[in-house]
Amino acid sequence: MYLKSVVLLLFLLVCTVNFQEVNSKKSAKKEDSPAASAEAPASAAGANSTKAGAAGTFNIEDFGVVADGKTDNAPGFLKAWKAACEATGKPTIVIGKGDYLLGPVLFEGPCKGDHITIQLDGNLLGSTNLGSYKENWLQFQHINGLTITGTGTVDGQGAKTWPENKCKSAGGACKVFPMSMVFAFIEGLTVHGITSVNSKYFHMNVFSSKNVELSSLTITAPEDSPNTDGIHLGDNTNVTITDVTIGTGDDCISVGPGTSKVLITKVKCGPGHGISIGSLGRYANEKDVTDITVKSCTLTRTTNGLRIKTYQSNPTPLEVSGIHYEDITMDHVTYPIIIDQQYCPNGKCGGTGESTVKIVDVTYKGIKGTSADPNTVVLKCSAKNPCEQIDVSGIQITAPAGTSNITCVNTKLGTADASIKSACSEA
Ligand SMILES: *[C@@H]1O[C@H](CO)[C@@H](O)[C@H](O)[C@H]1NC(C)=O
Ligand SMILES: *[C@@H]1O[C@H](CO)[C@@H](O)[C@H](O)[C@H]1NC(C)=O
Ligand SMILES: *[C@@H]1O[C@H](CO)[C@@H](O)[C@H](O)[C@H]1NC(C)=O
Repeated sequence: MYLKSVVLLLFLLVCTVNFQEVNSKKSAKKEDSPAASAEAPASAAGANSTKAGAAGTFNIEDFGVVADGKTDNAPGFLKAWKAACEATGKPTIVIGKGDYLLGPVLFEGPCKGDHITIQLDGNLLGSTNLGSYKENWLQFQHINGLTITGTGTVDGQGAKTWPENKCKSAGGACKVFPMSMVFAFIEGLTVHGITSVNSKYFHMNVFSSKNVELSSLTITAPEDSPNTDGIHLGDNTNVTITDVTIGTGDDCISVGPGTSKVLITKVKCGPGHGISIGSLGRYANEKDVTDITVKSCTLTRTTNGLRIKTYQSNPTPLEVSGIHYEDITMDHVTYPIIIDQQYCPNGKCGGTGESTVKIVDVTYKGIKGTSADPNTVVLKCSAKNPCEQIDVSGIQITAPAGTSNITCVNTKLGTADASIKSACSEA
């Protein structure tokens, strides 16, 4: 029952973002070998696991894996996880250099010890046999204290499966592909140093977790790869994302419903669809989004910069508040600053009502650089629920040919530059 609802939630979450992006006009740019199923050889790990447990280190080599880039190592990874999860103290799973092909693995807790570390220095290669996936590729859940660190790479090998993603033409109802890394119901999560490339779908989804730190990561996929969002957050509290480079075919970072206390700093984003809050208001019972800071980030050639998007006919009222954007550099960004409360990517948003998502207390401070489109600032809020306390100051974005177009609808400003004030008073 519990698990079922988890699965359902994750599924809904996936669909939300997927459907929105798929047919979005602005994002409509050009969106994005069967694995050997050899059983892991009988391992010496069983006999030596007591020793390994005592030492607190579980080397993946001792669990019958073959780093030949061909053998499916999922069974060996699962054995190593089980051994570490049953150990007390602070066990470490060591994945050394080498190419480890593997299909889906569910790293399930709760675990006995205080904290598990995965030292990842090798390359994990996602099986391209789509039939082997029930859901996601590497899914970690119900764990208190998890660190993944190292110089390794998580390679979804998405190039082989992107052509099978028909979401864009399907208008929303399409098969969902496996995400590379999913972290659900984790308290105390650190992901540091690793690289994620070419996910089949999202690179990373952090869901219903708290005290999360994602740092010094590199996340890349081609600009035209479908639904390859960098990091998606949903229902989390206390998340820090810092010193991360993301270039993908979809949002670099998206902040979904129920998220609070997020600090995003020193993120380099591009190509992609920018740093987004939302989409919000597609489903019933979504929770508020509060206290999100995006600071000292650079966006390069993205289709949006700082975006807040809400559906126009949301089933449950919710609030977006305490959003703070500061010291952001834009380099040829299409819509550098945008609030869109009439977001309806597939034209089937149910009704024509105004959004009841309330957006209040948003600060844009010191946003500079260049845009690729005249529409440098677009604040399109709801007639039913105008945006309030929107501070927009220190905006220096140069539009092509110097013709900047500022749109302001149903927006009550706080502190603002003269050009913004004048656009809002004319509206
Ligand atoms: C346990 O590990 C040692 C060294 O790592 C190895 O030499 C030995 O063969 C292993 N024991 C068993 C029963 O496999
Ligand atoms: C937030 O999370 C960090 C770990 O990322 C932790 O050190 C800190 O204590 C947490 N803050 C609160 C208020 O729980
Ligand atoms: C400027 O903004 C207005 C209002 O959103 C829009 O109707 C118009 O097309 C925009 N002009 C340009 C050149 O994009």
